Amino acid sequence: MADLGAIQQTMFITLHARATSGDATARRLVEAIDYDFGIFERHAGLTALFHVLRSSSYDAWTRDFLAECPNGTVVELGAGLTTRADRLDNGTASWVFVDLPDAAGLRRALLPDGPRRRTVAGSVLSADWVPAVLESPGPYLLLAEGVLVYLEPGQVRAALGHLAAGFPGGRVALDTYGSWIVARPRGPLQRMAAGLVWACEDPREPEGWGLGLTLRESYALSRPDRSVRRALPRRTRAALSAINAFVPRRMVNTPREPLRRGIDGCVARERA
Ligand SMILES: C[S@@+](CC[C@H](N)C(=O)[O-])C[C@H]1O[C@@H](n2cnc3c(N)ncnc32)[C@H](O)[C@@H]1O
Repeated sequence: MADLGAIQQTMFITLHARATSGDATARRLVEAIDYDFGIFERHAGLTALFHVLRSSSYDAWTRDFLAECPNGTVVELGAGLTTRADRLDNGTASWVFVDLPDAAGLRRALLPDGPRRRTVAGSVLSADWVPAVLESPGPYLLLAEGVLVYLEPGQVRAALGHLAAGFPGGRVALDTYGSWIVARPRGPLQRMAAGLVWACEDPREPEGWGLGLTLRESYALSRPDRSVRRALPRRTRAALSAINAFVPRRMVNTPREPLRRGIDGCVARERA
């Protein structure tokens, strides 16, 4: 049985979702890891849909970054067993995967480091891991997919503070969830010891924390950017239309004003 802390085990939810969606590396890892993935079967379809939607926005932000900065570094924070580098690597960029020590150990054992790919053990709650990341060339794109929601608000602020101070001009992508979902998590999280913690009603919130962060783009999970939507499988697009017809408007709080673009130090987010 994979011996990981409670919050670290949430990486198996997204790994299983990727495997369900047909990701060959994820399938191989699910076969290799001694864990009861059967607990995710009941909600597998919906979890995979959620994951495809969330991940597609992160993939799009990563593609944009690699097009602008082909020799830069993509840093996946709370990386778990993400397979984004397999999907999007351009042959020149560097990839650094940061996670808590036990999670980083598992990742390294299953997805060994290579010439441009490294796993670094560290917590986003401290800046200890930053120098190791800075050994890879800038600019930096920092992805925190499905990570910050497990932290207390003060810890999220501390984590974003380390990113803002450690990577000036860097770009951060993260996802936020309103209190309506944090208070009542659905699906596989009901079977896990870790729970959702950070409720954020407005993606502009971190702008007010005095860290120099500026919101650059924001998408509701069910209303992705047009280019992301176009690339989704037809069945997923149909499911989205159905969801959007039924999800009450109050559950999708996209910003009211037009979003600014091209500003250093930015936060992008999506919302369930
Ligand atoms: C839901 S998983 C997401 C994994 C991966 N980002 C993905 O999308 O597949 C949450 C991840 O956050 C990591 N994590 C939680 N708290 C962390 C912290 N303080 N510092 C670094 N990673 C953390 C966990 O170990 C786990 O790998």
